[in-house]
Amino acid sequence: MSSKKPLIVANWKMNPATLGQALTLAEKTEIIVSRLKAVEVVLAPPYVFIPSVKDVIKKAKMGSQDAFWEESGPYTGQISWRALKNMGVSHVIIGHSERKKYAGETDDAINRKMRALLAGGMKVILCIGEDERVGGEIPRIIEEQLIHALSGVKKDILSGLAIAYEPVWAISTNSGSSPDTPDNAFRTMLYIRKVLSRMYGRKEADNVRVIYGGSVSSRTIKAFLTEGNMQGALVGKASLDPEEFGKIVSIASKA
Ligand code: PGA
Repeated sequence: MSSKKPLIVANWKMNPATLGQALTLAEKTEIIVSRLKAVEVVLAPPYVFIPSVKDVIKKAKMGSQDAFWEESGPYTGQISWRALKNMGVSHVIIGHSERKKYAGETDDAINRKMRALLAGGMKVILCIGEDERVGGEIPRIIEEQLIHALSGVKKDILSGLAIAYEPVWAISTNSGSSPDTPDNAFRTMLYIRKVLSRMYGRKEADNVRVIYGGSVSSRTIKAFLTEGNMQGALVGKASLDPEEFGKIVSIASKA
């Protein structure tokens, strides 16, 4: 499996409401992250805060919560991946369930983004995950989402990819949510690797990080990284609290 450092992605979603708050959050997070060696941290604020956040971070990397597949052109309201790259964004979250729910993101759009962004040298965090908790067998949708998202993505651009297994029912703000168990996360991670191996071969598949998302906290991160064998986490709510997020990244740097 990939021997890369754990990857912890802070998905701020549509928070905070002011630039001042965004800068305070970024600065506090950077102070903690700058002390840690064995972890890679990405901050993904709302687009409007990216240039300012970029100015106050050094060790943490710049991420965005989505990007459009074209570089420029008549696409009102879209944000070009090329423009993001030019602003210093290295990582892009693609296919988050909230984009599917509120922005009508389709499997085809996700696939276009995957192909364009990876070919353009961006690092992509592809979110996959089932809507309902099922238990027992790994839901087929995991395989379907992977195959669809990666259709036409060639082996030679795969090194920029990380997969976030994020069961939708485990996202903290969804009603009745609770984190997945490390055991189920582990089984799903193996399954994701099996599908990737079938598509690209074992060596390439092993090089892709598989990370976990869904109600990650300082209480649960260790188990996901050790028992769950996850190579990082996608953190929503807890990334808005620098103290809690600081604990998560510190634990990850020692796991
Ligand atoms: P959560 O969100 O950590 O608040 O559950 C994770 C995500 O949706 O990316």
